[in-house]
Amino acid sequence: MTQLPAAQKSSDGVKTLYGGTGTRRITVRDLAAAKERGEKWPMLTAYDAMTASVFDEAGIPVILVGDSMGNCHLGYDTTVPVTMDQMTMLAAAVVRGTSRALVVGDLTFGSYQEGPVQALRSATRLVKEAGVGAVKLEGGERSLPQTEAIVQAGIPVMAHLGLTPQSVNTMGYRVQGRGDEDAHRLVSDAKAAQNAGAFAVVLEMVPAELAAEVTRSLQIPTIGIGAGPDTDAQVLVWTDMAGLTAGRTPRFTKQYAQLRQVLGDAAKAFAEDVVGGGFPLEEHSFH
Ligand code: KIV
Repeated sequence: MTQLPAAQKSSDGVKTLYGGTGTRRITVRDLAAAKERGEKWPMLTAYDAMTASVFDEAGIPVILVGDSMGNCHLGYDTTVPVTMDQMTMLAAAVVRGTSRALVVGDLTFGSYQEGPVQALRSATRLVKEAGVGAVKLEGGERSLPQTEAIVQAGIPVMAHLGLTPQSVNTMGYRVQGRGDEDAHRLVSDAKAAQNAGAFAVVLEMVPAELAAEVTRSLQIPTIGIGAGPDTDAQVLVWTDMAGLTAGRTPRFTKQYAQLRQVLGDAAKAFAEDVVGGGFPLEEHSFH
């Protein structure tokens, strides 16, 4: 059975999201309760069953099958080419690799922009075929009809504001919400997403003060990435977090391991053993 980290209790004795002892799946209601308790929580991306099982066993309460799989897993330059076929297959693997985390699947570019009917069809597919507990889509006001339709069908929706990578061709990769007008729009987008029924809002690359203001003004949790320390939760792309990503990573990430180095060293050690006769040895052989 999965060994979770030691249970932690908040001051009112309620089990916490991270490190809690419960073995049932986390739900969006647990996230709402954590906001009420003022408890912060971590979210990581994952794109396969094995990595997801590591994070699940580590007690990460929410795992996002992000369309960042385009850059981090599928070898594309952006998230734009990722399809719902790819998302559904990898989200199903992540669900199979986990037993406790709430698994959230991204609606990919082109799978919801046409309107609520298309959005609901894509979201329903992810829930039925992959088994995710919630979906994420980009945009505030511009995605409200989609959010409402999906929520009304009983599927929890996570909104994504600030830098929305599916709009890279118009937006680029830069900090959003700078200046009064943009800041005001971001706050009203966040409130609109909440009113449409979203259960949480990702804030990507927005000034820390603005993210703090959005967090204070919403009843639902905010999840920051490049949004300073005051959001309710923090998310990182797992390959950035673990130091597997090649080259420069964005300034807002932090590397908690050097997996690229570790894996490269292991591959070289294996290759040298094969070339030099150090592997396989007697103990690895059958007779
Ligand atoms: O696709 C993704 O991984 C994301 C996170 C960066 C929030 O949207």
